[in-house]
Amino acid sequence: MNIKVNTNFDNISESYLFSEINKRVSKYKNEHPNANIVRLGIGDVTLPLSKVVVDALVKASMEMGVKETFRGYPPEYGYDFIKEAIVKYYDRAGIKLDLDSVFLSDGAKSDLGNIVDILGDNEIYIPNPVYPVYLDSNIMSGRHINYLYGSIDNNFLPMPKDEYKTGIYYLCSPNNPTGATYNYDELTKWVEFAKRTGSLIIYDSAYEAFIKNDNYPHSIYEIDGSKECAIEICSFSKQAGFTGLRCGWTIIPLELKSDNHYLNKMWKRRQATKFNGVSYPVQRAAEAALSEAGIKECDINIQYYMENARLLSELFDKKGIYYTGGKSSPYIWFKCPNNMKSWEFFDYLLDKANIVGTPGAGFGTNGENYFRITSFATHENTKEAIKRLEELL
Ligand code: MLT
Repeated sequence: MNIKVNTNFDNISESYLFSEINKRVSKYKNEHPNANIVRLGIGDVTLPLSKVVVDALVKASMEMGVKETFRGYPPEYGYDFIKEAIVKYYDRAGIKLDLDSVFLSDGAKSDLGNIVDILGDNEIYIPNPVYPVYLDSNIMSGRHINYLYGSIDNNFLPMPKDEYKTGIYYLCSPNNPTGATYNYDELTKWVEFAKRTGSLIIYDSAYEAFIKNDNYPHSIYEIDGSKECAIEICSFSKQAGFTGLRCGWTIIPLELKSDNHYLNKMWKRRQATKFNGVSYPVQRAAEAALSEAGIKECDINIQYYMENARLLSELFDKKGIYYTGGKSSPYIWFKCPNNMKSWEFFDYLLDKANIVGTPGAGFGTNGENYFRITSFATHENTKEAIKRLEELL
């Protein structure tokens, strides 16, 4: 062939972080078929969907098999019933949203990766370390990247600096991978900065349901003025166990305007062209997850995971190892022992303890020498991992 390809792909790592982990774990399993591997790597849930959600899924699926209730293409932006449920969910925290500012998606990852479609060539500011999707998608689009460095000095919570320019700022709170969470004061400083510099914040709140402490905002829209400078992207994956069902949402306030363009209108146009919506049964399941009963049932699973996080944190406290997360987040982020490099520790942990985690370096250069484990395993597997870590660390 003699076509041109997008050579920006030369500038991203050859495989996606979690694909690389899967590759290494499969190789190890082939070589050690009897190894009893405990997976604390990708943040994938292990508990089944709650009953309220399954009932809604089944009922909606049955409707699809009956002439009178069958539905074809769903609306690209989501049925009104689910958008209304999302508006109501925010309303519980006193946040008023326009129905038209809500867009249903097949998960936060897609919208976080696709939002670059409606943005021009801006300076991009990305936390380092952070969820790799923001970086990879901006590099694929040939954007210029700046980093907001997180480290032990700022407890992995980078704050705005005078030298930062107008641009697109990605924030993730509670953070993936560090679990560090902005409090009201800190997030207010980011919103004030964005307004002062005419910047846009893309706020990833996928882990907000794990916040059980009043000092931390669940949504950026709890901060005054944020509707003039922020898009929020959230997910049912961790909150309601939808990693396999796929559903999330994006809020683009109607007032967001730049360069004489309304971002909401542009995203509408983008979605209508490139997205055919979320399946009807999944939308009904999502609606059920946001009902009063659904929120309560899903919270039982969140508490289960947070108990794992508590047990894991206890181990690091006992060992005196520096870590963040584990309090308002399912992730625990800790310093590798003996100054080991992240991937070196990954191999070491897999080989010596048969535990899979995620190397910090996969989330950015400032993740080097750090490691992430999740609390999404079963209690049994978490306790087994703690026993093995107790001996190894
Ligand atoms: C993670 O482990 O970082 C997440 O599960 C990945 C994701 O949400 O796509």
